[in-house]
Amino acid sequence: SRVKEAEFVMSSARARDCPKDDRPEFAVLGRSNVGKSSLINALIRRKEAALTSKKPGKTQTINHFLVNKSWYLVDLPGYGFAAASQSARTDWSSFTKGYFLNRDTLVGVLLLVDASIPPQKIDIDCANWLGRNNIGLTYVFTKCDKSKKGKGGRPEENIKEFQETISSLYPEPPPWIMTSSVTGLGRDGLLLHMSQLRNY
Ligand code: GTP
Ligand code: MG
Repeated sequence: SRVKEAEFVMSSARARDCPKDDRPEFAVLGRSNVGKSSLINALIRRKEAALTSKKPGKTQTINHFLVNKSWYLVDLPGYGFAAASQSARTDWSSFTKGYFLNRDTLVGVLLLVDASIPPQKIDIDCANWLGRNNIGLTYVFTKCDKSKKGKGGRPEENIKEFQETISSLYPEPPPWIMTSSVTGLGRDGLLLHMSQLRNY
């Protein structure tokens, strides 16, 4: 599961413009600012291969990164960015839903959830939608290096609460992992997990 090489391949505005080969891929999904682009950079150990920002709404297209010339990591725009216009939000859902429903090479979705804040309804809704459409997902809790005093400040507590909220939705709970793009927590475990999913 080692990353020997990785390269940015292309940005696509729509699902049908994505690469047409049959290499397996993992989509990185989650709220704006949750750390999708940062996670990709941490996984492939490149500082700014995927562009990141303190301001939400940085990634606006579907971005394919080819790892070891054999599989793709896909950076997507975030959802739930309150400042986005209504039309931008509608576009998000039609274009990403199109991607998820039509991408035959999709092996799984990494659903990123910010562990430094309490569970958010929009993440639960997203998990629901993926579940209803039989899209396999792994919960990747991000920002596990961030901890604050007081209610909703501890990653472990927020993760537990999130798991409890969604546990009734599944006969078997989806796999999950704690990560930090700052400390590298969970990087090797997540790469191993993805290599196992690819080899099923
Ligand atoms: P959009 O492209 O806008 O949807 O956002 P994104 O999900 O790609 O988030 P991005 O990777 O751009 O990161 C957003 C902010 O969170 C940046 O300021 C990052 O430095 C910060 N960040 C990302 N991951 C971590 C993490 O693991 N720990 C901490 N402390 N900060 C993080
Ligand atoms: Mg991004």
